[in-house]
Amino acid sequence: MSRRIVVAIDGPAGSGKSTTAREVANRLGYLYLDTGAMYRALGLSLLRSGRNPDDERQASACAREMEIKFDVGEGSQRILLDGEDVTDLIRTPEVSDAASRVAVHPQVREVLISLQQAMGTKGGIVLEGRDTGTVVFPKAELKVFLVADVDERARRRRDEMLARGEDADLRVLVRQIHERDARDEETQLRSGEWPAPDTIRVDTTGMAIEDQVSQVLSLARQRSVNTVRR
Ligand code: DC
Repeated sequence: MSRRIVVAIDGPAGSGKSTTAREVANRLGYLYLDTGAMYRALGLSLLRSGRNPDDERQASACAREMEIKFDVGEGSQRILLDGEDVTDLIRTPEVSDAASRVAVHPQVREVLISLQQAMGTKGGIVLEGRDTGTVVFPKAELKVFLVADVDERARRRRDEMLARGEDADLRVLVRQIHERDARDEETQLRSGEWPAPDTIRVDTTGMAIEDQVSQVLSLARQRSVNTVRR
C-alpha cells in the first residue's frame, strides 16, 4: 500500500524546482507548497510599507502580522497577501532581492517555518525551498536537490522574463544569480549541514522539464511504497 509522503525539493534559482515541484504535486494529488513565495510576499510587504528588509525586528514583526494564503485553482496556485493576489507581483527582481535579504533573519525564518510545518503534518505534500529537507521537514521521505549550470539558469530566467514582456540582460542575470546563490547558501549553512546528507542530486542541465518531472515522480512513487512514516 502506498502512503502520502513528504517530498522536499531544493535547488538554486533557475534549476527548474518550481515547475518540477508543482507538476509532481499535481500528478500525485498532493499539496504544493512554494516556501520561497512566503519570503517573497514578506519582502513585498516590507518594500510597500517603506520598511527595511535588512532590519530583523521590522521584518519579523511584519512576518507575524501578514496573512499568506495559497489559493489552489485549476492547474495554478495563486498567492494571497492579506487578501490581495500578489502571485505576479512577487516575481520582480526587486522583490527577489528583498526576499533573499529577509530570509537571512533567524526570527523571520522561525515564523515562516512554523507555518510551513503546520501545512505538512499529515504528509501528502511537495515543498519547494532551500531548507525544506533540512529544517522544515528533516524527516521528509524524499529529498531532491536540482542543480543546473549558471549560464543555463540565467537563460531560463531570461526566457521567463521575456515571456512576461520584461527586458533582460543575460550578463546582469548571471551576476544576480551568483550573488543570490552566495547569500542563500550562506543562510542555509548557518542553520547546519546543507543540503541534507540523504538528498538526491539531479543535474537538470540540458534536461527537458518533462524528464525532470518523471525522474522525481518515479523516486516519489518508490518512496511512498517502500517507506514507513517516521
Ligand atoms: O526560491 P525562491 O527564489 O522563490 O526564494 C526566494 C528567496 O527566499 C531566496 O532568496 C531564497 C529564500 N528562501 C529561503 O531562504 N528558504 C526557503 N525555504 C525558501 C526560499
